[in-house]
This record gives sequence, C-alpha cells and structure tokens, in this order.
Amino acid sequence: MNGPTQLDAWKKLHREYGRIRPLHMRDMFATDAGRFDRYSLKLNDILFDYSKNRIDEAVREALLDLAREADVEGWHERMFRGEAINHTEHRPVLHTALRNFSGDPVLVDGVDVMPEVRSELERVRELAEAIRSRRWRGASNQPITDVVNLGIGGSHLGPQMAVEALKPYAIHDLNVHFVNNIDENQINNTLERLVPETTLFIIASKSFTTQETMINADTARQWLLDRIGDEALLSHHMVAVTSNTEAAVAYGVGRENVFRMWDWVGGRYSMWSAIGLALVIAIGPDNFEDMLRGAWEADRHFREAPLQENIPVLMALLGVWYNNFFGAETHAVLPYDQNMHRFPAYLQQADMESNGKGVDRNGIPVTWQTGPILFGEIGNAGQHAFYQLLHQGTKLVPADMLVPVANFRCIARHHRALMSNILAQAEALMKGKTEAEVREELGAAGLPEEEIAFLLPYKMFPGNRPTNTFLFRTLDPRTLGTLVALYEHKIFVQGVIWNINSYDQWGVELGKVLAKGILAEIEAGRPVDSHDASTNGLINYYLGLRPKKN
Ligand code: F6P
Repeated sequence: MNGPTQLDAWKKLHREYGRIRPLHMRDMFATDAGRFDRYSLKLNDILFDYSKNRIDEAVREALLDLAREADVEGWHERMFRGEAINHTEHRPVLHTALRNFSGDPVLVDGVDVMPEVRSELERVRELAEAIRSRRWRGASNQPITDVVNLGIGGSHLGPQMAVEALKPYAIHDLNVHFVNNIDENQINNTLERLVPETTLFIIASKSFTTQETMINADTARQWLLDRIGDEALLSHHMVAVTSNTEAAVAYGVGRENVFRMWDWVGGRYSMWSAIGLALVIAIGPDNFEDMLRGAWEADRHFREAPLQENIPVLMALLGVWYNNFFGAETHAVLPYDQNMHRFPAYLQQADMESNGKGVDRNGIPVTWQTGPILFGEIGNAGQHAFYQLLHQGTKLVPADMLVPVANFRCIARHHRALMSNILAQAEALMKGKTEAEVREELGAAGLPEEEIAFLLPYKMFPGNRPTNTFLFRTLDPRTLGTLVALYEHKIFVQGVIWNINSYDQWGVELGKVLAKGILAEIEAGRPVDSHDASTNGLINYYLGLRPKKN
C-alpha cells in the first residue's frame, strides 16, 4: 500500500465527513431507537458501546471499507503467522504466542516457539510459588517480604499497571514495588522502607543495557552487598528477565535465575512474558494464567470476528475517523476504577511508542496524521480537573470510558454514585446543553432575563463529543487481559491503516545517544562549548552549581 489517502474508502470518508459534520448525535439518537443495539458489542464480560460516536451506517460502512482496502485481515494473519512484519528490525511480532492456548504451533524461522514459551512460563510459576509459599529464602534464611521490579518502559509499565489493577487478587504479606526512574529519589524512597535480607530485586530489561535500569540495579546491588557482605549470596536476592542472558549472567545473576524473553516480543507488548514476573508473584500463577486466557480470547475475537463485529477493528477505525477526518489531535482514556490508575500511562507507551511515526513502511514521510496524543486519568478525578475542556473547550477529544459493573469489595453506595458519574459524563458529552435548555433552567431558578442573556453563552454545552464506553462485570484478571489485548490490536490496526511499522521505536534513540556524550562531559566536570548555546549554557550552569560531591 502506498498510503491510506490513495484508497477509495479514504476519499469516500472525506465526503462522508462533509455530510456528517453538521449532524448532532443528539438528533441521531432522537430519530433512531435502535442505535445502542446496533452500535454495541459484547465480548465475554465486556460490553463495548460505541453508539455515542459521530457515525451512521454509511460512515461505518466506509470505515469498514477502509479496513478492507488496507487489508487489515491479511495483516493480522501475517502477524499471527510470524512473518517479520517489524520490517526495520527484521523481526516477527508474536506477543500473541505468549498467550496462545490453542495447542497450535507458532513458527519462527520454521521452529515452533511454543515449547519454550510454556517452559519459561513454568519456570516463572515455580519461582513465584517459591516466593509466595516462603520456600525461597534470603541470605539469612528469612522469607522474602518485598519484591522490587527494576525496569522502565515496557519492562515496567505493564506489570505495574496490572499489579495495581489486580490488587484485590494479591497476597497481603508480600509487597511489590516498582522503580523505573533514574533519579535518586525513587530508589531512595523505596529502599529506605526495605530490609536487604527480605528483599528480592527483579532486573527487568529486555536489552540489559538500559541506562536507568542498570544504574538502579547497581545501586540495589551495592545496597544488598553493604548489608549481606558476601557476593555469593546475592543470588538469593537478584533475578533477571532479559533476552540478553549472557549479560545478566556476567552481571552476577545466577543463570538459573535468568528468565528469558525473545526478540519477537516488543518491550511494550511484553507483560505477558516473564517480564510479568512481579505480577505473577503478586497475584499468583493461576490468576496470571487467567489474564493470559483473557488476552487469548481477545486474540481469537480479533482474528475470527467479522470486521463489523470486531471490537479492536472498530476501536481503531473510530480513532482514525476522528484523527484523520475531524482533525482530533488527542485521545483520552478515562477509567472509572481507581485500581486502573496506571492504565492510561501503560497505554501511552503502547500507543504512542507504537504509532508515533512520521515515516511509512516504504521509508517515505507520511502526509497524513498518525498516532494521537493519548492521555488519561481516573474519571472522577478528571471531572474535577480537565473535563471542563472536554465539555466546552475548542478541541475535540474523543474518549474511552471504562467501568466495572461491580468491584471486588463493593460498597453499593460508592458504586452507584460512580456509575451515575460515568453515565452522566458520557451523556453530557454527547448531548450537550442547548440554548432552550439553559433558558428554561435559569428561568426556573428565577433569574431575570438580563442575567439569563448574560449567562447563556457560558452555560451552553455544544455536545456532539464522542465517547466509547466499556462496561465490564468486574476487573478480574481475565477481563484485564482481554481489555489490554483489545487495545494492543486496536493499535496494530491503526498502524496498518496508516501504513507505518507499529513495532519499532527508533525515536527513542537520539536522546539516549546524546545523553551518553553529555554524561561524559558532566563527569569530566569542565565547562563545555561543544553544543548549541542553550545546551552549553545549561550544562555550564549546572556544573557551576552542583554540590561538589556529585
Ligand atoms: O527506550 C524505549 C525502550 O526501548 C522501550 O521500547 C522499552 O520498553 C524500554 O526502553 C526498556 O527497554 P529494556 O527492557 O531493554 O530495558
């Protein structure tokens, strides 16, 4: 494909955009009682309502044509079959193999990877069980009470998001901590609460070269050594997850404590692998397996459901509709569940590192918009912070709202109020508030006509702001797995339509390389003039002010 703008469906969508733009969803609902039934789908315990979107049958058909013309189905088969669709790194993209319960082989270079996947999962299970059952002992023969995941990006966000989301499933006498940042505050704040003899570190790094993770690992190692003394005993307190086994062994992690990842699993798609070790320890192997099963069910749905009933395909197409035709720059993810508070951050990497690309699969700069700026926050907190802009600002911000029908420890009064909030927000964004409604409201409140006329423009809401609602029974491991996998596939479908490679991330390299050079200059401690004036000025200012011991 040369680019989506050449496709007939794209051109048709331009015409449809002109037609639908003046229409209001409020009227679409008023004239169509079947809209909810027609534009909502169910997958297991998840209801996906996409009826509050600026679409009708003609738009949906044109969007589905776009998926057909971009060959979304051909591409997903290429992915599942293990073709090297990550063409700039010459790699297949097979995170789906990590949750493949079909019994079918998955071939990479003609070799079935499933036996390895299963045996690595078994090793993860054994380690997690040893720690949870207190069989795994630290250097002084005490059980582990605290597990610290040292990793960043995909080696951090997925497990952390899921540990938070699945808190009700975690055991209580084991604490799981995450350290991702390089600043000394985070690791200091974490270590000062811990005891070396009862702490286990997981060095989670696919490459085992990431600066943030390796500096944190060095600090953790020294912290352990200062107390435990004997290097040989470190193996009781440090394990690693990496595709670079030899580097981990050279670092001093016992070979038997190195868990494997594969280069056909992208970092931001790796929470299903041993990278999820901290999560497995927290919630237990059976719950982890339920999460994998939930993801597998989403994989099957993605692969088998016809396009018009395919949730990730529809999520993707709606995103393209707003991104490329309405000119929306952002996409909001708004979970109404405190345990999902890291979900937007997780999706930020999944989406923006995948689809934040400006060059297409042919190496040519794109002339169409690609991935949106994704942001989000827990819904109620957002309502009291940035929803003002969603309701009355000048930007169109399509949003996903997610909410469980019930919580693990439900307090009915809380939950009823929560539900009323999410439903009201989606309704308000869709309907808005007309001049007549404002007049009536202010009139009923007894305001004089002059005051009503004055307040009118401020009190009106344009509405017509799209949302998808995901309503699920409860946030259990299986549902979380399904939800995350649906988003993964949505990202993939959008990448196919935009004709970009969603699985490389060259854009993170430049800063890393420059940081190396600047670190050397900082360590040398002499004033510099090798950069632009701003960078020179900042480095020299820092060198002049930093405390001498740094
Ligand atoms: O810098 C980006 C990135 O490469 C991500 O894609 C990845 O998830 C993260 O760094 C961490 O990488 P690693 O697991 O190799 O430490």
